[in-house]
Amino acid sequence: MIFLAIETSCDETAAAVFTAGRVVLSSVVASQTDLHAPFGGVVPEIACRAHLRRLLPVVDEALGRAGVTLADVAAVAVHHTPGLVGSLVVGVSAAKMLSAALGVPLLAVNHIAGHVYACRLAAGRDIYPCLGLVVSGGHTALFDCPDPLTLHPLGGTRDDAAGEAFDKVAALLGLSQPGGPEVEREARKGCPKAYSFPRSFAHTSDLEFSFSGLKTAVLYACYGRTSPRPAPPPPGQRRADLAASFQAAVVDVLVLKCKQAIEQTGHVRLAVGGGVIANGALRFALGQMCDRRGVELIVPPLELCTDNAAMAALAVEKWERGEFAPPDLDAEPNYL
Ligand code: KG4
Ligand code: ZN
Repeated sequence: MIFLAIETSCDETAAAVFTAGRVVLSSVVASQTDLHAPFGGVVPEIACRAHLRRLLPVVDEALGRAGVTLADVAAVAVHHTPGLVGSLVVGVSAAKMLSAALGVPLLAVNHIAGHVYACRLAAGRDIYPCLGLVVSGGHTALFDCPDPLTLHPLGGTRDDAAGEAFDKVAALLGLSQPGGPEVEREARKGCPKAYSFPRSFAHTSDLEFSFSGLKTAVLYACYGRTSPRPAPPPPGQRRADLAASFQAAVVDVLVLKCKQAIEQTGHVRLAVGGGVIANGALRFALGQMCDRRGVELIVPPLELCTDNAAMAALAVEKWERGEFAPPDLDAEPNYL
């Protein structure tokens, strides 16, 4: 049985084909990075117009790479929440149209639950119940995940998401977007102890995060408090040290809050999804923390960390429960 899935929640136009056995036959992602780069961040209107232009060719490519046609598709899945509303509307409308035209069921999946489910795909077996950490450009949150479709929030960011902080700090350092991989590359050349940046909520037992103070600390360390701002730091040791010290602060708080969440919940598996877990320093530090506690760390391969439609294989779980979406399914920008 063949499922076709669509993802358009932010700035990646993606489609994937998978089976009821959760075997991913194809996963195609058309990134919009080049379109948003001149603006230093995702411009919602540009994102949804690009989805409109690109979605059907991306769907065609996913079907072609999987060696199937629309006639083989037995169900259509779509990430309908959360995300940029205009972007979500494009994917949801296309999925509704395809399901109606093909006469097959529609399945609505939560993008955040999908990021955790990417770990289930990577493991190739059931990983629930588990502690879920989602660290992306839009979200930073910890969840108690008793099963694939249930996320109980344990805590989250009060302001910026971790990926957003990486992107903004990349801009401060004069690096290109998306900032995470650029900051990571720069950090490899620097000393993580060169600057002592703040670790928010490090001394509390709640599972909250905050990255805006850290971002401001990097701003002042880069430019002082003068206005107008001087040019970004030139390539060299100082810039590398700023990147490494910033990254160390983000990694420290993410690892600390995961450690606290493990102690509070007793979970023996930690599943981490979202673009920021592509970061090697974070993977390494989480791995060490989990090893010391006998906790299994599950992280997806790089192509399943950042936004993609394969993680919408979570729809298979809904299919098995008979939880189909109504034909008037709405895009829901806020987290459901
Ligand atoms: O999950 P994702 O593709 O999109 C959202 O749902 O937001 O995550 C994108 C975020 C961006 O902020 C990007 O800078 C960050 O993930 N990211 C990284 C790395 N690769 C991507 N952050 C740190 N280190 C990386 N290697
Ligand atoms: Zn995402």
